[in-house]
Amino acid sequence: MNGENGIVIAGIGGSLRTGSFSRKVLEKAVTLMPEGSSLQVADISKIPIFNAETTRNPDASVVDFKNLISNSDGFLVVTPEYNYSVPGYLKNAIDWASVPNNVFAKKIGAIMSSSTGMMGGSRAQYHLRQTFVYLDSRIINKPEVIISFVDKKINEKGEFSDENAEKFMRDLLNNLVTEVRNQISSAR
Ligand SMILES: Cc1cc2nc3c(=O)[nH]c(=O)nc-3n(C[C@H](O)[C@H](O)[C@H](O)COP(=O)(O)O)c2cc1C
Repeated sequence: MNGENGIVIAGIGGSLRTGSFSRKVLEKAVTLMPEGSSLQVADISKIPIFNAETTRNPDASVVDFKNLISNSDGFLVVTPEYNYSVPGYLKNAIDWASVPNNVFAKKIGAIMSSSTGMMGGSRAQYHLRQTFVYLDSRIINKPEVIISFVDKKINEKGEFSDENAEKFMRDLLNNLVTEVRNQISSAR
């Protein structure tokens, strides 16, 4: 754990497309991290399609992704919603990180969702929460960060801004880092 030198949280998500709105949300989260913590964003764009026959000799992109999560004190996922669920590339990265050793086990994490629709990716977020039950992660429940009509919340510079969402994001990140600190001190 990195607790001694500040809390490090792995940031996962955003879609692969240039100009992804959920990427903007993730970038916003970087700026809202509580004092003494930081968010290190993973690159999942090069991760190949999961194949159980190759998990013992994975691609370097998979090794890097797993190392980032293992070496972090906690994680944050920002997911868009595809067809009422988690986008395939994101689920694919999580599948890679789960075998042969599950790097999400016992890790404290938080989830945010955003979409251009009025449900804000909530259905994808709930599917993702279910996945992390199987992976035995400790997902923070509250507040829920569900950002609807995200495309209307990007300013002319391409920056994400929404006062209400920002408050919920800040609160969730505070709760995440507090729980991570508690986990580190109880392990000492
Ligand atoms: C294949 C596909 C399926 C989608 N399905 C949903 C959906 O089920 N619910 C929803 O709210 N938006 C849906 N959308 C719209 C996305 O919310 C929107 O494209 C969003 O901008 C994607 O995230 P990104 O901006 O990070 O790429 C879908 C988009 C795509 C490309």
